[in-house]
Amino acid sequence: MLWVGTSWKMNGTLASARDYATRLGAALDAGAPAGVQPFIIPPATALATVHQILGADSPVLLGVQNAHWADAGAWTGEISVPQAADAGAQLVEIGHSERREFFAETDQTVNRKVAATLRHGLRPLLCVGEPAEVFAAGGSVAHVTAQVDAALQGIDDLGRVLIAYEPIWAIGEGGREARGEDIEAVFAALDAGYGDRVEAILYGGSVNQGNAAETLAVPGVTGLFVGRAAWQVDGYLELLRIATAAA
Ligand code: PGA
Repeated sequence: MLWVGTSWKMNGTLASARDYATRLGAALDAGAPAGVQPFIIPPATALATVHQILGADSPVLLGVQNAHWADAGAWTGEISVPQAADAGAQLVEIGHSERREFFAETDQTVNRKVAATLRHGLRPLLCVGEPAEVFAAGGSVAHVTAQVDAALQGIDDLGRVLIAYEPIWAIGEGGREARGEDIEAVFAALDAGYGDRVEAILYGGSVNQGNAAETLAVPGVTGLFVGRAAWQVDGYLELLRIATAAA
């Protein structure tokens, strides 16, 4: 099964979320594309709306872009895992590089969030990735495996865990598209260390309709985590078609 999903990051309105969900739901009316597990991570403000439009039986799983490790309490501005689940989330994205860089996420908070997500029966989507200078120095495998080891410390059953390897140098507007040879060593290491214990290991960072097939052909890659190229529903549907062909 190839997992193919998108985070909308901090983009869109309820109107654009409704439009995306309505068109996605109609396109997947007959069920999930063969061999592919779709997922969408809207802004938290749009999650319940997207959930309502897609419906409880939708093949599309939904998620949040972050959640706190505590179940409830005086944590102004945060969302708990039970609240995310209440609004329709089955996935919790954790430790995206933007959150590590700008919102003080550490390996330790990531670890606590992974544990909280599993405790409530949701699936953590653990994001890891190295900066450009580490990649240039040949340190990608060590950096990424250390992040994963720290994030999963003390967690025995990894059956619901998804890992997304997203090199920071590949993410976003300033990112460089990765070639297969740029990422194959990290995927070989993640596959050897975790491949038979986790749900899937995804690649993310400037994934688009032109490079998705090449990325999915890298040994150990069992999914794609996409930003910009899936923010329009037609772009996302095209990526689902590419993944189905590769599955
Ligand atoms: P991008 O974002 O596809 O727009 O590079 C990827 C991500 O941040 O997950």
